[in-house]
Amino acid sequence: MVQYSWAMKAYRASILSFPGPAQAALESDGLLVVGPDARGRQVVEAAGPWASVSARYPDVPVEDLTGRIIAPGFVDMHIHYPQLDVIGSPADGLLPWLDTYTFPHEKRYSALEHSAESATFFIAELLRHGVTTALAFATSHPESVHALFAEAQKKQLRLITGKCLMDQNAPDGVRDETAQSLLDTETLIRRWHGVDRLGYAITPRFVPSCSPAQLRGAGELAAKYADVWIQSHVAENRDEIEWVRRLYPQARSYLSVYEQFGLLRPRAVYAHCIHIDDEDRALMRNTGTAAAVSPTSNLFLGSGFFDYAAAERCGFLYGLASDVGGGTSFSPFHTMLAAYYVGREGQTKPGVSLSPQSLWWQHTGGAARALGLDGVVGNLTPGCEADFVVLNPKATPLLARKTAQAASLDELLFSLIVLGDDRLVEKTVISQAGA
Ligand code: GUN
Ligand code: ZN
Repeated sequence: MVQYSWAMKAYRASILSFPGPAQAALESDGLLVVGPDARGRQVVEAAGPWASVSARYPDVPVEDLTGRIIAPGFVDMHIHYPQLDVIGSPADGLLPWLDTYTFPHEKRYSALEHSAESATFFIAELLRHGVTTALAFATSHPESVHALFAEAQKKQLRLITGKCLMDQNAPDGVRDETAQSLLDTETLIRRWHGVDRLGYAITPRFVPSCSPAQLRGAGELAAKYADVWIQSHVAENRDEIEWVRRLYPQARSYLSVYEQFGLLRPRAVYAHCIHIDDEDRALMRNTGTAAAVSPTSNLFLGSGFFDYAAAERCGFLYGLASDVGGGTSFSPFHTMLAAYYVGREGQTKPGVSLSPQSLWWQHTGGAARALGLDGVVGNLTPGCEADFVVLNPKATPLLARKTAQAASLDELLFSLIVLGDDRLVEKTVISQAGA
């Protein structure tokens, strides 16, 4: 029997967890027990069958959520908080989309007040959709970074962000200045990285928007601060790739430009990785670099299809991302469904393309692992921070009808992925400190 702690709490429901990569398990009558770790942060104490776990924690108060499914909070590996108002802006591909919609919207984030209003809306929207960890782009304005960190800290969210570096090929109002941009980055790292649940990401926007001096400086900071993240974009769009080829005619590939500046390493996350080859994939694997697969964005902007079969063959880290506002939805269910469509496109073997267990893993435990946060978030194994969602499988008449007929875990998860959206998420619970 475990000694009762006043800060412990338990939840009775079906419990979805991941005993291994791409492998889910559902405890139909389960108990999740959370309690403070040595730092006073709520973590998972135990999760398992109600009968056996409740016997070990007889005095812990239980919230009865029978009929609901508790699952790990979702992890979004790539999202742009200043692109809230850009969602659904059609363009003839990535580059005109950036010029016409994205840069004008991002200019507004020089004002702290606008950044703060947007950060509050953004984090509320993440939580409403069940996303409890995010790696997010801010804009080139330090104000935008302060605003997002401050709001995440208030909500106790695990959030990683950084000032966008972009000292060339960008209009007035978003373009930054090389030396100052690097000073600002280091100041922000020292102010925010490792504070509560916050992390800093060095954020070169993409090769065309960063001078060689800026990329070099970013790489130097990445070497100096080895546990900060790096986030950027690579090989999303054919015109973008052609542009990089003109800028770096000697480079073997677009990805290799980042390598040349010391920007491939564990905790480096590159969105898209669509038009890459096996040599690039081996480079990602060998450097511990991860891909943020962004299927709703890739379908919306007509960028192409992430090659799942090649990713598996070469064995590098990857996970799912919304890429709002190129992406069309905050909903992890919409992203998982789009990933299924994309997997279908590149399918090389007969049968279903991506299993629902794999899709769900890619947006929880797999994404956490790709971020270097394995065992910290994205799962409900003991020691994980207690971030979770409470799903109501009867949230809509069709969900109720369909999930009632599920004869296997795969059928249940598929129903949730295909029919689910924010209505499915009854509650999002964030691990509290000092509880
Ligand atoms: N490449 C450079 N910037 C961006 C951006 O904001 N969104 C996407 N999807 N790709 C980019
Ligand atoms: Zn992006």
